[in-house]
Amino acid sequence: MPEPTTSGHADLLSLSPVVPVVVIDDLDHAVPVARALVAGGVPVIELTLRTPVALDAIRAIADEVPEITLGAGTVVTPELAKQAAAAGASFLVSPGTTPRLLDGMFETGLPFLPGTATVSEILAILEAGITQMKFFPAAAIGGATFLASLSTVVPTARFCPTGGIRPANATAYLDLPNVGCVGGTWLTPPAALAGGDWAEITRLAAEAASLGSSASPGAA
Ligand code: 3PG
Repeated sequence: MPEPTTSGHADLLSLSPVVPVVVIDDLDHAVPVARALVAGGVPVIELTLRTPVALDAIRAIADEVPEITLGAGTVVTPELAKQAAAAGASFLVSPGTTPRLLDGMFETGLPFLPGTATVSEILAILEAGITQMKFFPAAAIGGATFLASLSTVVPTARFCPTGGIRPANATAYLDLPNVGCVGGTWLTPPAALAGGDWAEITRLAAEAASLGSSASPGAA
């Protein structure tokens, strides 16, 4: 689990330049995928709560791949936040934020990245004492240009943008001073999952891990 910072909220944006956002349909895929990511140099996974097996997948990874920092993504209700924490997640990520969801995530005691898409939402999250947040769906709502504009008006906010990010555009985000990491599903393509092609996932993870070295010093 990430170490808490002086603000009491673990630094989730410095774990890896790329946080893989993973959708697991087959429970048997959970552990091999987590191992393949670690083998490629990516020590973190955001496992989305979008499928019936997601909570069991979190349990399996927590039990069998303790070396990976395990997050639960697509946390859309306080109940899911609680279930993800009970299953063994070390951090939570939500695509958007409501006051009830924010309270629910705080109540788990886990660090989390609340989802934001507008300046007003970012201000509300800052008012709650949180400076790290997800920015979603990044490419569709203005991408790196939008995030660059934010650094002057909300300089304390730092982001993990996700949504529409791929190797070709990841560096444009990672070079920004207010972006610590990016997230995306591209490291675990459905074809590789369906075919059990763990080597391909390791290859994509290694490629993603190397993206961090092209970002500006201090960007993370
Ligand atoms: C997320 O939950 O962050 C998104 O599904 C990631 O979007 P992508 O599929 O475009 O990477």
